[in-house]
Amino acid sequence: MEDQAVELSLRPRYLAEYIGQNQVKENLKIYIEAAKMRKEALDHVLLYGPPGLGKTTLANIIANELGVNLRTTSGPAIERPGDLAALLTNLQEGDVLFIDEIHRLHRTVEEVLYPAMEDFALDIMIGKGPSARSVRLDLPPFTLVGATTRAGLLSAPLRDRFGVVSRLEFYSVDELSYIISRGADILGVEMVGDAADELALRSRGTPRIANRLLKRVRDYAQVRGDGIITPEVAGEALKMLQVDPRGLDSIDHKMLYSMITSFRGGPVGLDTIAATIGEESQTIEDVYEPYLLQIGFLQRTPRGRIVTPAAYQHLGLPMPEQNGSSG
Ligand code: ADE
Repeated sequence: MEDQAVELSLRPRYLAEYIGQNQVKENLKIYIEAAKMRKEALDHVLLYGPPGLGKTTLANIIANELGVNLRTTSGPAIERPGDLAALLTNLQEGDVLFIDEIHRLHRTVEEVLYPAMEDFALDIMIGKGPSARSVRLDLPPFTLVGATTRAGLLSAPLRDRFGVVSRLEFYSVDELSYIISRGADILGVEMVGDAADELALRSRGTPRIANRLLKRVRDYAQVRGDGIITPEVAGEALKMLQVDPRGLDSIDHKMLYSMITSFRGGPVGLDTIAATIGEESQTIEDVYEPYLLQIGFLQRTPRGRIVTPAAYQHLGLPMPEQNGSSG
């Protein structure tokens, strides 16, 4: 509860406080301003990219900047068309409806969303059988903000109804270092030397991870030190958390090691990797793999994933001998 409250307060509330994603920010700033000048609802916005990069934060910021209410839900939470109808009919003019994991909407629910997005209308079936008829209800103009880790899983008709489609990128070490310093200020914890950079390097390009590491390092500094986060304290705490110098955790290690020891570094299929280490394929694909691809430790090929020389070097392991046909 305490942690959750802190989590929320670490999140920026306006675009001016939001660090990174400069292209996305610049674009949104213009579209938001234009919508406000015209006194219209902002066009529907689709945000996609790996978890923890700020999709929910941006949805909140969009509503704050527009000065409207935000309603938050998620794809799997909307079980029936009636659930969505209830949400839509409770919106006020210009409000933002945020649907997280929008790729997991049921098909029947998705169909209700099409006329809602396009015409601000709700088509309701009344009755059953031969006497059934459809009634059209007007909705207040609203903005749908959809978020997904997998834009490729969205149906084309849904994707096409978003006027703004923005992809969030991993953050640079400098950006993360700023985010961590800002977080330390908010939490009232002192950081000295390169401690913020040290944490930033290990945050996998992801603010959610940066803020989590900051909180755990703060705990460590409080209990084992004098509360001040020095680079040494940060290093010890991170070691205890089993986060390596590039931010890889025990699951990343397990995955790379098993690909190397059982499959000579690949190519190996995603489902095989998942079965070998006992994780869900989808978790690997959404959560672990994107960063490993980004830093060049993994490559995707039509025949499966391959561990790169950079990863061998990072793990201090020798490359297997070349023998022409691997796998
Ligand atoms: N906290 C989490 N994400 C952030 C961001 N992008 N900018 C500033 N603070 C953040």
